[in-house]
Parts: sequence; C-alpha cells; structure tokens
Amino acid sequence: MRDKDLKKFLGKSVNKAVENINKKICTQLKNLLANNQEQIDKVLLELDGSENKTNLGANATLAVSLAYAKCSAIENQISLFKNLGKSYSLPIPLMNIINGGVHADNDLNIQEFMIRPDSAKNFMDAIEKCFLVIQNLKKLLKSKKMLTNVGDEGGFAPSINTNEEALELIVQAIEKSDLKPGNDIVICLDVAANELINDKGEYSIQSKTFTSVVDVLNYYQKLTSKYPIKSIEDPFAEDDWESWKKMTNILGKKIQIVGDDLFVTNTKRLKKGILEKSANSILVKPNQIGTLTETLEVIEMAKKANFNTIISHRSGDTEDTFIADLAVATMSSQIKTGSLARSERVAKYNRLLRVEEELGNQAKMARI
Ligand code: PGA
Ligand code: ZN
Repeated sequence: MRDKDLKKFLGKSVNKAVENINKKICTQLKNLLANNQEQIDKVLLELDGSENKTNLGANATLAVSLAYAKCSAIENQISLFKNLGKSYSLPIPLMNIINGGVHADNDLNIQEFMIRPDSAKNFMDAIEKCFLVIQNLKKLLKSKKMLTNVGDEGGFAPSINTNEEALELIVQAIEKSDLKPGNDIVICLDVAANELINDKGEYSIQSKTFTSVVDVLNYYQKLTSKYPIKSIEDPFAEDDWESWKKMTNILGKKIQIVGDDLFVTNTKRLKKGILEKSANSILVKPNQIGTLTETLEVIEMAKKANFNTIISHRSGDTEDTFIADLAVATMSSQIKTGSLARSERVAKYNRLLRVEEELGNQAKMARI
C-alpha cells in the first residue's frame, strides 16, 4: 500500500500503512491475550477482510506479523530461527551476479543471471566460492572495458547485448576460479517473463521476438543443453498456465522450474500449479502474501508436493534479515538474496554466517 500522492515521495510513501498499524491494528491487538503467531495473523486477516490485503495493506500486516515473530523469539530468549522451527539447514544461495531486465539499464532481457554453489561444504564455503566467481567476473568485465557498476540486486549490470554473452562470461568466471561449471557452480536464471510478453502473447527473450511458444521452449532447451543451467524462474508470464505445463513436462526432470510471479506465494495459485504440474519449485516472498502464517502454509504445501522452496528477497529490499532465519527454520533448500554487494543483500548472508556459527557442529547444508 503506497500513498500514491505524487507530491509526496513521488507517490511511494507509505504513511497510510503506518497509520493502519498505529491505529486500526494497534486497537485490535492491544488488549488481546495472544500467545501464538496464528492467532495474531488471524486477527490481521479478519480486520483486513479483503482477498488481497487491500484494506490494511500487506506492508502493514507483514510488518506486524514479523514483529510478533521477533518479539516472541526475544521473549523466549532464543534465536529467531530456533523460535520459528525445530529442525534446521543452511540454504544454498542463488547469488545474482548479472542484472538485466527492469533491474538494470542494459539491453539484457533476462532479469537475473545467478550462480549456485552446489558443491559447497558449508555456508562459509558457499560464500567463498561465489565471492571468487564474482571477483573473477569483475576482472573479466574490466578486461573487456565493460562497466562494473551494479544493478538493483547487487549483480553487475554491464552493457551486454545477448543472453549468451552473459552466460559465456559467467562460465569463464567459474573456470577462472578453478571451479567446475555444472558441478561446483551451476547457473540459475530468472527470466521474469511478465515483463517480456506483448499484447499478442509473444515473448522477447532476446533481441528477437518469439512468435510461438514452441520457439520459446526450443530456446530454453538450447540454452540448458549448451550451458550448465539448473534453474529457470518465471520462464512464461503469470497467466500463461499452458506454456508453464509444457515447460515442466519437457524440462522439469532436468532443471528447476520456479514459479515466482506465477504463484505469488499464494496457496490458491500454488494448488493449481501442483495439480497442473506447472512447475516443480516455488519462490517464497513473505511480502507477496502479507503474514508469516500464510507464508508458512505456502511452504508446507510446496514441500508436501515435493516442490523445492526458495526463500527470496525483493529487488527493493531493506536491511531486515528475517528471510535468512526463515530459510533455515523451514529447511528450504535455497535462498535468493542478491549478490555480495549492497548492504541490504549482504546483511542476509552475514546473518546466515552467524546462524552457521551458532549451530556449530550441528550445522548442515541443505541439499537439492
Ligand atoms: P522483484 O524482483 O522483487 O522486483 O519482483 C525479484 C524477482 O523477480 O525475483
Ligand atoms: Zn522473479
């Protein structure tokens, strides 16, 4: 919920949502003897009463929901992740290293090129492996006289024109780090295809526009056989369910097909996706749904269907590290939280390192 008053912060301010917390929500919660998350979240849902949190704002409900979770951990004098769950694992990071799409001002259509250190022994090792690749990619870009400034999620945003060029550079950076592409480090993409579809239902995944779904599928097949790509997020637009089904049917055994815009962390949409075999993994963003309880319900539903769960930041994010604890406590196999640049991204990685320290010899990496 934004104020949409163009004279104030270009319409982006959130004073209404803050007021909803301080007045409406506060009045309801003040004298409530609640001692569990579900109860608090139920009050929020009832008070809002809409399908999409349009009355209170999902930013208002989520802030209160997560604040309760944090207070509860403090009251119990244990770490947040321990208060959230009973078994733990450290997620494998999907680290964004080249930004394109709406997250960068270059000509790349695919929004995110990520690396995933599948052979990492522990979280510190995962960070080190990604760090090496990032530093080698930086050197490569410099040697080609390309800019090394970063995009919204901390990945580089060089003036690259084709997806293949970006992929070649990443493979080279992995090799220069003495790591094996496809073995130590795999590549993950977020196409964010909602942004690439036109009125006629055609997709522009690279400079040319694909007029048929078969051509798009062939392109993904070509990319995944040529490069060590093990995950593709939002390969089709959010309401193009038929194409998703075809994608999962063709590539679902070989790679992760991840629904972000497709599922929007919503059990109704996820249920349809599970029934129709539209994907095999889900991106989980607490602020897409607006309460912790609903977020946990989505994760539970996904796990029951053997979907991989990837806990995720947003391109516009804060220093808050809640999602790090959430990934550990739900034993999600992966976390997607940008590159090792921009402190709002690095904060989550630092938190995961602290969690690994706290768990000591009990710490274990999630496996995909
Ligand atoms: P967003 O991007 O936070 O801008 O939606 C992140 C993503 O698409 O995964
Ligand atoms: Zn996405």
